[in-house]
Amino acid sequence: MEYKKKGKISVSMMCEDLVHLKEDILLFEKMGIEYLHIDVMDGKFVPNYGLGTDYIRGLRELTNIPLDLHLMIESPEEKLKWFHIQPTDLVTLHYESTPHIQRALEKAKQYGCKVNLAINPGTPICFVEELLDDIDGVTMLTVNPGFAGQKIVKNSFEKMKKLNQYLEKRGYQDMEVEVDGNVSFENAEKLHSLGATIFVAGTSSVFKDDRELRHNIFKLRESIS
Ligand code: DX5
Ligand code: ZN
Repeated sequence: MEYKKKGKISVSMMCEDLVHLKEDILLFEKMGIEYLHIDVMDGKFVPNYGLGTDYIRGLRELTNIPLDLHLMIESPEEKLKWFHIQPTDLVTLHYESTPHIQRALEKAKQYGCKVNLAINPGTPICFVEELLDDIDGVTMLTVNPGFAGQKIVKNSFEKMKKLNQYLEKRGYQDMEVEVDGNVSFENAEKLHSLGATIFVAGTSSVFKDDRELRHNIFKLRESIS
């Protein structure tokens, strides 16, 4: 399959060392990081708690880098108003997080932002079928969400290939396809060659070696160009 386009980087803020937050944000701005990935977790939809509304408010005061709000919470449609969503943001909702996913996506879209549908490793690709016109992209989880530092689920490469064929066949080949979970330099390169366009960068890439962020960002850029 052909390389789609130059990939975008979404830096995973759950992996950020708060001691260095300010200086790192400046570096991300300088290096043209496209998104800051915010894992919002409610301890119900996923077995962990994650970044909350106060953190997000603080982050917005520090930077204009668009936020990639990955909402791993139950009934997200009832909570969208808590996040002061901006038109430049990307909001990602999970297929299984509400019985009314179409309504939830439509509601998120009303903020003028980009909206992605997230599918877990066990969620079949065909579940996106009826929602293709409600979304700007698909976020394919390459680990079961909730924790950083996990190993990629093996069938992720095959699934990415299938997902892109699936989208192409239906005329949605220009959709963004985000990958989240163990996106190492090597995995990023492979996933990019199979059609991924946005790469969540956590402990497997940008935060891999102790404080080598600049070097790691260059290296990740190289893998997805
Ligand atoms: C899950 C999270 C993690 C993590 C990515 O939603 O987004 O996948 O931050 O970083 P890794 O997997 O590289 O530690
Ligand atoms: Zn995430």
